[in-house]
Amino acid sequence: MMARKLKVLVVDDEKVVREGCRRVLSGKDYEVLTAENGYSALEQLSEDTVDLILLDLKMPGMSGEEVLETVHTNYPEIPVIIITGHGTVDTAVECMKKGAYDFITKPFQIDQFLITIQRASEKRKLELQAKQFEEENRRNLYDLKLEKSRLKTIINCMANGVLVTNRNLEIVLHNPALMQMMEIKGDLDSPVPVDKFVEDRDFIESLREILHSRLSTPQTVSREISRGPKVIRAISAPALGPDNEVVGTVTVLEDITAFKQLDQMKSDFLNMVAHELRSPLVSIRQQNTVLLEGLAGPIGEKQHEFLEKGVKKIDSLLELINDLLNIAKIEAGKAIQHQVPIDIGEVIKETLSFLEPVAKEKGIVLTYEEGELRPILADSKRMEEVFTNLITNAINYSPDGGRVVISAKALGEYVEIKVSDTGIGIAAEELPKIFDKFYRVKDPKTRQVMGTGLGLSIVKGILDAHRGTIEVESELGKGTTFKILLPIFEQ
Ligand SMILES: Nc1ncnc2c1ncn2[C@@H]1O[C@H](COP(=O)(O)OP(=O)(O)OP(=O)(O)O)[C@@H](O)[C@H]1O
Ligand SMILES: [Mg+2]
Repeated sequence: MMARKLKVLVVDDEKVVREGCRRVLSGKDYEVLTAENGYSALEQLSEDTVDLILLDLKMPGMSGEEVLETVHTNYPEIPVIIITGHGTVDTAVECMKKGAYDFITKPFQIDQFLITIQRASEKRKLELQAKQFEEENRRNLYDLKLEKSRLKTIINCMANGVLVTNRNLEIVLHNPALMQMMEIKGDLDSPVPVDKFVEDRDFIESLREILHSRLSTPQTVSREISRGPKVIRAISAPALGPDNEVVGTVTVLEDITAFKQLDQMKSDFLNMVAHELRSPLVSIRQQNTVLLEGLAGPIGEKQHEFLEKGVKKIDSLLELINDLLNIAKIEAGKAIQHQVPIDIGEVIKETLSFLEPVAKEKGIVLTYEEGELRPILADSKRMEEVFTNLITNAINYSPDGGRVVISAKALGEYVEIKVSDTGIGIAAEELPKIFDKFYRVKDPKTRQVMGTGLGLSIVKGILDAHRGTIEVESELGKGTTFKILLPIFEQ
């Protein structure tokens, strides 16, 4: 810490004393400056940093006492050792009363001289260290304060709302954007329960889920909160303490009203187009069927073949239109109205019995492994749709002779359902996109399968409405596993 040598200023009119001190002290690792009178001493003090002064009392011109007084006033931190002859010991004692650190008598006894100097330099060193500590401490506190105020400025300037709660779900940090977005007028200076300002039950529930989450990996939860005509997206995550324990929640809120309106317009438009297309298609199909059945007169083999192909095409178009209507309905939150406690195992078995023949045709073995199950609150028709889509995908995107395994079991507060296949797999960079509407992986193996890319977005929509989650793991050429978690219904 103290890398530099201590500097001693020897003030004495006798050259022998000055040189004697220089010789002894230089050998002991001190840097020595000398002055032959008081004026020169004060001048050196004003130009240099001195750690210790050896001061003769009897000098021509300015006396030692006068020098001491000036030093004491201007440089109180420098210890002064008085050099005195036997005759002036009384004066030396007087000087100590005036602030001198110690005195030594001439002629010097080397040991005594060195001990006195060393004591004074220890004092000086300690003082310097204390000063350095104090300075560092002050700087650290300043940095901390600066960092804190920087963070505060950033959070306060954010366009998104920020809401941090403690474990009791009391608001402990917020920003002006939050106050404005949620139209909060009250005082949030002391911790206030979050449900006092945000009444949305689902949102509060999702914060509770985060606090009590027993999932191995901390998850973010996204919820949409309605506030009058406004729609706000809230993305919440656990706030973790030093030992990775959950100490609260952090939510970032964004006003997505405009985006929602646009989405609604798009859905309305899609809905309208789908409806308008469906009626004429149904009637063309009916007419074709009439022709096929020969009710409008006999038809030849070729005509029969063409008409049949036409009907097949119409059927796949009708299926697409149904999917479009379905997704629009799910997005409007209308599809999931009948949530009752159900046994998800039954739904899976029912779905499997439908899909068994499709799998058989491709030589694919379908297996179902059921662990201990608990009821969930769900709309069983919608759940059937979820499994139909996932298992159909597993069958479609597997080469002939593959294996598809479905498993279901209760896991903590959730029921976990997995659909695994030994199919073509999905590349890692495609995984985040496959739940998007109309997204299909662009490769020849996928193209062989007829599809519109709507299945998984319907699945995701239904699971969202049931507070469920879906994750996917896949390896190209090896196979894919979809994992669903649905909250258990607690009576
Ligand atoms: N089990 C799977 N194995 C490999 N790829 C899959 C699997 N499931 C889905 N995919 C990929 O994800 C894409 C999206 O699937 P999704 O079910 O949404 O649409 P789709 O099957 O193409 O059409 P449809 O709307 O008729 O279901 C698929 O096109 C395919 O590329
Ligand atoms: Mg599909």
